[in-house]
Amino acid sequence: MGRLQDKIAIITGGASGIGERLAMLFKDEGATVIAADINEDALKKVSEIEGIHGKKLDVTNEDDWANMLKEVKEEFGAIDILINNAGVSTEKQLHETDYAVWEFMLKINGFGTMMGMKHTLPYMKEAGKGAIVNLSSVTALVGMGLNTYTAAKGSVRAITKAAATEYGQFNVRINAVFPGVIQTPMTEGLESSSEQLQRINAMTPLQRLGKPEEVGNAILFLASDEASFITGAELAIDGGYSAL
Ligand SMILES: NC(=O)c1ccc[n+]([C@@H]2O[C@H](COP(=O)([O-])OP(=O)(O)OC[C@H]3O[C@@H](n4cnc5c(N)ncnc54)[C@H](O)[C@@H]3O)[C@@H](O)[C@H]2O)c1
Repeated sequence: MGRLQDKIAIITGGASGIGERLAMLFKDEGATVIAADINEDALKKVSEIEGIHGKKLDVTNEDDWANMLKEVKEEFGAIDILINNAGVSTEKQLHETDYAVWEFMLKINGFGTMMGMKHTLPYMKEAGKGAIVNLSSVTALVGMGLNTYTAAKGSVRAITKAAATEYGQFNVRINAVFPGVIQTPMTEGLESSSEQLQRINAMTPLQRLGKPEEVGNAILFLASDEASFITGAELAIDGGYSAL
C-alpha cells in the first residue's frame, strides 16, 4: 500500500525539476498524477511514464484552471491533492526591475498559486477533504536578494496561512514549503559559478545544495494522510540556511 494510494494529485510545473521528481515520487506511492505545465515538449516526455498524465496549463490563466480541473474530475473522479509548484525566478536587482519584470514574477509565482487554490478549493470543500502544498522559497524567510521573486514568494507564504485558517473547517489542509537552493534547471546558471556556489555552501550548515527529491519527500509527507493534523505550517527545506 503506497503512502498516497488511490489519491488523485495535480502538480503544477510537473514537467521539470522539483515538480518532475515529485510526480515520480507520488506515482511510486500509488497516486494518479496529473503533471500540469506550460511547456508542452517537456510534458510529452513526462506523460510517457505510466501513471503520469500530462495536461497543458498556464497557471496565470483562469480559464485553463477551470477547464483542467473539470477534465480531471470527469476523468479521474476526484481532486485530492494540489501542489502549486510552477514558478519562475529572476536575478535582476531592484534598481533594474521594471514593471514588466515585477508583473511577470508576481503573476506566475503569486497569482498562479492563488488561482490554483481559488479553483481547486470548491472541489475539495465539496468532497470534505483535500491537501494543498504551496512552494514558497527560503527567500521569503530571510533576506537573500532576488527582490521581485522574494515579493512573490512572500505572497505565497501569506496566502497559505490565510487559506489554511479559512478552509480547515472543511478538512482541507494547506501548507507551504520553503526550499533553499536546489539543483534544478532553475539554478543551472548558479551552479556554473563556483564563486557563488562556494558562498552559498559557506552560508548553509549542511554545506551543499539540495536535491529535488529532498524537497519532494517533504512535500510527499505534507500531502499524505500522515500529516492529517498539520495545516498552515511552514517547512524550510534549506540545509539550515534560514536557521543561521
Ligand atoms: N530550484 C530552487 O533552488 C528553488 C528554491 C526555492 C523555491 N523553488 C521553487 O520551486 C518550484 C519549482 O522550481 P524548479 O527549481 O523545479 O524550477 P524549474 O524551472 O525546473 O521548473 C519550473 C516548472 O514550472 C513551469 N512553469 C513556468 N511557468 C509556468 C506557467 N505559467 N504555467 C505552468 N507552468 C509553468 C515550467 O515550465 C517548469 O516546468 C518553483 O516554484 C520555484 O520557485 C525552487
